[in-house]
Order: sequence, then structure tokens, then C-alpha cells
Amino acid sequence: MLDSGDLARRYAYPENLRRPWVRASFASTADGSATAGDGVSGDLGGDADDRVFTVLRTLCDVVLVGAGTARAESYAPVLPDEVDGRLRARLGLSPTPPIAVVSERLEFPSALIAPGQLVITHAGSPQRRRAELARTMDVIVAGDDEIHWPTAIAALAERGHRRVQCEGGPTLHGALVDADRIDELCLTIAPMLAAGDGPRIARSPRFAGRTLRLDDLIRHGNVLLTRWTRVDGA
Ligand SMILES: NC(=O)c1ccc[n+]([C@@H]2O[C@H](COP(=O)([O-])OP(=O)(O)OC[C@H]3O[C@@H](n4cnc5c(N)ncnc54)[C@H](OP(=O)(O)O)[C@@H]3O)[C@@H](O)[C@H]2O)c1
Repeated sequence: MLDSGDLARRYAYPENLRRPWVRASFASTADGSATAGDGVSGDLGGDADDRVFTVLRTLCDVVLVGAGTARAESYAPVLPDEVDGRLRARLGLSPTPPIAVVSERLEFPSALIAPGQLVITHAGSPQRRRAELARTMDVIVAGDDEIHWPTAIAALAERGHRRVQCEGGPTLHGALVDADRIDELCLTIAPMLAAGDGPRIARSPRFAGRTLRLDDLIRHGNVLLTRWTRVDGA
């Protein structure tokens, strides 16, 4: 049985963070597919993954997500009953973490166009749309014709968002791996061989080869909940 209190302790962010910490969370099948038969991650990791997902949202300052995932999974602002509000209050966090959606085309679910929610984009994105979104959302422009991740993450930190929970998808994750901005990966491995042509959990034009250390492993029935951190300078 997975206990939420135990999970919250095991998934706690490093104490006294002096710099932003970017944690990616994904579920994949045993053969590495990040999507199930329905083309979205859906309930790949079942109940265990749902619980971890809630704990990870509870512990973060901000949820970072690519527009593709926001579109595929109909993202909306996090509601108070989707996190453990008491734990967030104890940790000194806001009642709910805002969503920061990453997009170049600036097309994502209209539910996200709400006060307190953020957009991360670059100066080459459609200017008129950017201005329109900035009337409601907090728009971070980082980079000229592609997102410059050190600038984007520093902009999140300036807003007090140091515990960054990246919920994918593979394109955003690949860009962050490529930029060496992933500190930790929480990966649920589901008991399924998918075959098909589902994406892996990270994709980018180049091989990155970042070395990880296995920090935690929980077996829940046939599901594995793993937590890995980046080995600095490897
Ligand atoms: N298994 C899992 O745990 C998991 C987790 C998340 C998602 N998924 C699945 O993954 C699939 C979506 O994959 P995806 O790779 O398309 O997802 P994605 O990374 O969420 O979305 C890609 C889109 O996000 C924006 N984006 C991402 N990185 C960017 C960057 N560096 N610069 C500018 N824009 C950037 C772009 O949006 P614009 O097109 O708006 O410019 C891009 O087209 C869905 O089926 C979803 O269900 C699975």
C-alpha cells in the first residue's frame, strides 16, 4: 500500500535549494513507450502513478508542460482538490502550483489562459498572440528564435519558482535534457509491452547521454516507481 505521507517524504525536494531544481515525471511501458493505445499517457501507471503524480504536484512551485501535452491531455489550472493543500501550507507553498506552458505557436487549451498561469516562449513566436496572452497570463520571453533555457529557468526562479515539476512531454523533456537542465527524473514503469510507434520519454535531434544515479525504487504490485538524479559533471 502506498502511503501519501511516505511518498511525500521520499519525493521531497532537496532542502535549502539555492538554485532551481527541475524534476521530470513520466510513465512508460516496459519497452519504453510514453503513450498507451489511446495515444496519450492516460493511465499507463495506474493508481500508483496517479498517487505519485498528485504528490509531485503537491511538492512543487510550478508545473512545466509542453503545449503538445497540454493539448493532448486538455490541461487546465491545477485545482485546490488536486493537491494536498495542508501539506503545501506546511511547506510554505501557494495553495496550488501554477502551470507554465511552453509553446512556440502559442496555441494551447483556452482554460490555461487565466490569471496566475504562465507561458514560456521566445521572441520569434507570434507577436500579436503574445501581446494578447500577456493581458491575462504571465508571459516569459526567453531567447530570440528558440527558447534559451538558462534564461527561462532563471525567470521562473525570479518569480519564486525553484521547485519545477516538468510533466513532459517528450519534446520538451528532450530540449531540457539537451540543455542539461534536468536534475531529476521520476519514472513509472508500467507492466506492458506496447510495441507500436509511441514516443520515448525524451526526443531531440542530438544524443545527449546524461548519466543518472538511481536514488529510489518502489515496487507496487507489478509497477515500478523509480527516482533518478543527474550525476553532475559525468
Ligand atoms: N508517458 C508520459 O508520462 C507522458 C507525459 C507527457 C506527455 N505524454 C504524451 O506525449 C505526447 C505529446 O508529445 P510531445 O512531444 O508533442 O509533447 P510536448 O513536449 O508536451 O509538446 C511539444 C510542443 O510543446 C512546445 N514545445 C516543447 N518544447 C519546446 C521548446 N523547446 N521550444 C518551443 N516550444 C516547445 C511546442 O508547442 P507549439 O506547437 O505550441 O509551438 C511543441 O510543438 C502526448 O501523446 C502525451 O500524452 C506522455
